[in-house]
Amino acid sequence: MIEGKELKVLISEAELAERIQALGKAITEANQGVECLTVVGVLKGSFMFLADLVRAIDLPMEVDFLGVSSYGMETKSSGVVKFTRDLSQSIQGKHVVLVEDIIDTGLTMSYLLENFKTRGPASVQVCTLLHKPCNQESALDIDFTGFTIDDHFVIGYGLDLAERYRNLPYIGYLTDKTA
Ligand code: IMP
Ligand code: MG
Repeated sequence: MIEGKELKVLISEAELAERIQALGKAITEANQGVECLTVVGVLKGSFMFLADLVRAIDLPMEVDFLGVSSYGMETKSSGVVKFTRDLSQSIQGKHVVLVEDIIDTGLTMSYLLENFKTRGPASVQVCTLLHKPCNQESALDIDFTGFTIDDHFVIGYGLDLAERYRNLPYIGYLTDKTA
């Protein structure tokens, strides 16, 4: 723990579990008749969410990952998105669900959507666990949102602060310790 800080719970394990079941159901219903869904997790932050989400989706699917980094060791978006890993398969003609941990400025998702357009998918839907609308800089259509949150820098359940805290089973944030 960082000196002088304390960890507060914003979204508990039980709340996450319940909401993710509902998201899985909504994605299942919206994609009835799709022969095979391609669920793409944006690494690293979405790894835990994706693992729970795919188990709540009752459809034939394949799972793929891509890696981007936009933050470095800072807590503010740089606006510069770097691919750290590309998809392992083509998405041409496929029905894709892009899964993010959090949409903050929206720069990462806008960049990914533009990039995906050039690859010729049949459709692209966006699913994010968390959305911080207060910082959003570009208009985005988000198809499935878990929780809309205030402007906290959140950690846990896959999300990091300088690579730490990803293993927390809940979504939390650090505040100054009150004496
Ligand atoms: P955006 O490009 O500003 O929308 O930021 C998207 C990426 O920044 C997310 O996929 C996260 O990896 C990271 N990010 C944004 N807000 C937070 C936060 O509160 N905690 C941890 N990571 C964050
Ligand atoms: Mg992310």
